[in-house]
Amino acid sequence: MQLPLWPEAASAVADDIDHLYIYLTLVSVVMSVLIFGTIFVFAIKYRRRSEDEVPKPIHGSWQLEVTWSVIPFLVMLTFFWWGAKIYFLNATPPPESMDVYAVGKQWMWKIQYPEGQREINELHVPIGRPVKITLASEDVIHSFFIPALRIKHDVVPGHYDTMWFNATKPGRYHLFCAEYCGTEHSGMVGWVTVMEPADYENWLAGGGSTGTMAQQGERLFEQLGCSTCHLLDRQGRCPTLRGVYGSRVQLADGKTVLADDAYIRESILNPNAKVVAGYKPNVMPSFQGQISEEGILQLVIYIKSLGIINAPGAPTAALTQQDGGKQ
Ligand code: CUA
Repeated sequence: MQLPLWPEAASAVADDIDHLYIYLTLVSVVMSVLIFGTIFVFAIKYRRRSEDEVPKPIHGSWQLEVTWSVIPFLVMLTFFWWGAKIYFLNATPPPESMDVYAVGKQWMWKIQYPEGQREINELHVPIGRPVKITLASEDVIHSFFIPALRIKHDVVPGHYDTMWFNATKPGRYHLFCAEYCGTEHSGMVGWVTVMEPADYENWLAGGGSTGTMAQQGERLFEQLGCSTCHLLDRQGRCPTLRGVYGSRVQLADGKTVLADDAYIRESILNPNAKVVAGYKPNVMPSFQGQISEEGILQLVIYIKSLGIINAPGAPTAALTQQDGGKQ
């Protein structure tokens, strides 16, 4: 169903969301007509007919009370059920999704692809393939909104959010920031180009990029001096990072933590937050203020490229002084 009221629908989930929206509107219209119609009819039917008319007292009816409580309750539950179904579908990117990284910054969207392409206020994706976007903010809260794909997600500084979609129709669609984020919020807009897979591969090949994201991350790893302590193939002053990504890391306080994007980001910006077992705190300086969110994402991808232990229930990577170098 495509009324001119609706923005173009170009994702798999768009029709679901439109149908839910139409359903919500219809139920609201039916309820409003019912309520206002009843008021109107009763006002006429039970109007006072003479000055001294005294109405008969009514002592209530539990059948009526139960009926008008239970039926609306069940109707409301259909909102919840349908909404939750779409919400959970939208909240879980399929494992085979391709990755894209978006950083919101006053006032632009910076997009990065694992293959190394980078662009500003432009996003290119193929049709028929789930795309997972990892969102980060360099400063304040933004919101990544693509109306034609019916997806919107807040981009909150300090941590990663993810959203995903499966575009179904080639075209060029608006990308907006949907959260007031300062003077030029209204100018924080861009375009999403949805392409046929072959066109997308062509576009990806003609990038003129400076290496993959992992290679860009590797260069940063050298420039920032990370590589002088985190040696790759033997034990340095800090844990070796080979095979860390996706593993469970044993911490000095006895807990373990999953080495995911968020953990790596935290360890770069606040190294003392989770010290690995066998290592002292205050050895690694914080890189807060020295590296952009884009750079952190490149480092995360680089560390990910060093090996992934991703199976559920994977062995704990106890990165102690003794065995850390033999990963
Ligand atoms: Cu970014 Cu509004």
